[in-house]
Amino acid sequence: MKVKSSPGFVRTAAAVLVVSGLLLTLSVFPLSGDDAKPAASGKLPQPVVDTHELMELFGEPYFEYLKEEMSKGAPDSNERWKTVRNRGWQGAEIANLFAMRKVEKNQAEWLEYCAQMQKAGVGMADAAKAKNGDGVKKSYQALVKSCNDCHTAFGEDHAPQLEP
Ligand code: HEC
Repeated sequence: MKVKSSPGFVRTAAAVLVVSGLLLTLSVFPLSGDDAKPAASGKLPQPVVDTHELMELFGEPYFEYLKEEMSKGAPDSNERWKTVRNRGWQGAEIANLFAMRKVEKNQAEWLEYCAQMQKAGVGMADAAKAKNGDGVKKSYQALVKSCNDCHTAFGEDHAPQLEP
């Protein structure tokens, strides 16, 4: 079949070019305005949500569980020592999520607070494994201090000072 190069055909071809150009532009420059961005490269670790969401999703519920557990006083059963150990490990791993975030400036300081948080979490787990109640308390204080120190340094006025 022979395609006749009529003015109509030229117009249609031009429109197709414009639309495909637009689609190409959109796929190269994804729409902004949404904080959640999928790991386009498929390469992990890859942050998905912004710091505010991250703190709401991981910092806040974690602190609630932790504080509730600590308010019960020294563990009096293997079950509870295990729970405290797990809370320590949980905090230590959450510190890795915080450490993945790139901040605009003072990245080294940001990472330092994350490292302190992780160290305190591991310390808490170790103390719980040894059934050392004083050690657990000390690590708990250090953990909360790492949250608060980073909030003072990076939170401007929208990061809470947490009461242990
Ligand atoms: C490395 C830095 C850093 C560490 C460590 C850190 N935070 Fe945060 N946190 C921030 C920043 C920055 C904000 C403010 C985010 C925003 O709203 O822009 C914040 C905000 C928060 C908020 C308020 C979120 C909201 O809803 O407005 C909570 C709750 C929170 N953090 C909990 C914690 C807890 C609990 C810990 C420790 C276990 C912790 N954070 C450790 C940097 C940190």
